[in-house]
Amino acid sequence: MKNNSSHLISRSLRAVWHPYTQMKHHEQLPLLAVTRGAGAWLYDLDGKRYLDAISSWWVNLFGHANTHINDALKEQLDTLEHAMLAGCTHEPAVKLAERLSTLTGHVLGHAFFASDGASAVEIALKMSFHFWRNSGRSCKREFVCVANSYHGETIGALGVTDIELFKGTYDSIIRTAHVVASPDARQARIGEQARDVAIRALDDVRRLFVERGEQIAALIVEPLVQCASGFVMHDPSYLAGLRTLCDQYQIHWIADEIAVGCARTGTFFACEQANAWPDFLCLSKGISGGYLPLSIVLTRDTIYSAFYDDETARGFLHSHSYTGNPLACRAGLATLELFDAHDVLVNNRAKSDTLGALLEPLREHPQIQHLRRCGTLFAFDILLPAASARQFSRCFFECALANELLLRPIDTTVYLMPPYILSEDEQMLLAMRLRTTLTTVLSRLSG
Ligand SMILES: Cc1ncc(COP(=O)(O)O)c(C=O)c1O
Repeated sequence: MKNNSSHLISRSLRAVWHPYTQMKHHEQLPLLAVTRGAGAWLYDLDGKRYLDAISSWWVNLFGHANTHINDALKEQLDTLEHAMLAGCTHEPAVKLAERLSTLTGHVLGHAFFASDGASAVEIALKMSFHFWRNSGRSCKREFVCVANSYHGETIGALGVTDIELFKGTYDSIIRTAHVVASPDARQARIGEQARDVAIRALDDVRRLFVERGEQIAALIVEPLVQCASGFVMHDPSYLAGLRTLCDQYQIHWIADEIAVGCARTGTFFACEQANAWPDFLCLSKGISGGYLPLSIVLTRDTIYSAFYDDETARGFLHSHSYTGNPLACRAGLATLELFDAHDVLVNNRAKSDTLGALLEPLREHPQIQHLRRCGTLFAFDILLPAASARQFSRCFFECALANELLLRPIDTTVYLMPPYILSEDEQMLLAMRLRTTLTTVLSRLSG
């Protein structure tokens, strides 16, 4: 079928190398040729609409073309589009750092800026190692991550990622970390709670710390939900336990809140639910409202002080050209203003309950397991024979588009991570179309 989209799609397939994509799959699988966005909806070149139920890879918190963020950016554009952050400073970066510090009760009062999530992870790892080096403990240069965790795809971030598909190919050029047991609540045995799984997982961390504590610089964990691992959720007590162990063995805790931060789990920072602050907190994705690449590593006075010296080499040796870009920071500030103006944390609780109730009937489906939610994040697993499981994600993506939904399961885990602005009608449409999509996909795969 010849339409407006197909011309752009063929040009894209010739010229653009798409991320995390086997390009050959697009011989069958259509690309979505997006031309504009408004609220929760994306529109293609043929005028068809798609509910962005995964916030465009988890970044778009307040909808597309949000008027408040748009206005802030237009004003910023006419004032200062960019200035380097080495030797210069500007209001948007200072104000954003101050606002974030306030949100942590000034525990994490120092903000280091970068552009994407993987860079934030790299920064936290380097900063941790460099802290120990400056403190006379250069032997602390090993890192720890959780089984099946994901922290980005640059070489350093892959070192603390434990997903075979992302990492396996590049193993020989990666400096791998220690891997500890996952606190995945789905592992609870009969009669157990998520908390019991957390206790077992903490025992594994303790064993490693006893053995290698002198060599370990930091442990990295995505608090409450390991998203890219298939929305693996754990009990908050796991985080509180990590804080205690890290203090006991003098090991830094890096909280990767790139996906789970900015209120996704029900509190602004996921760590708040454990009443525990990390030594480094990585933020990205939603912090700019999904407008511009921005990431931030927040850290404590004690870390910052260890770098404060006359000698340049004892300072933190890391920079990116667009570090602290004023437009991105201004988008971040406008995003934070929206949280205050619309009482987002309270409203999200109500939205989560509404969508949660609409999804509840899925529990009865014989092929659906572990329907779960955390804040405004929903997921469930589909039971399928191996051959169909391999085709599930692509088949689902295609059928969802036909039902006006943008959804991309991770393997056989279907998840929703909608923007915070869905109306009740949109939530109802999402739940209904999700069900229709599932029915079509499952019958197609069994046929
Ligand atoms: C938990 C987590 N850490 C790190 C990253 C990497 O972020 P980016 O894709 O911006 O490099 C992601 C991306 O999905 C993520 O979910």
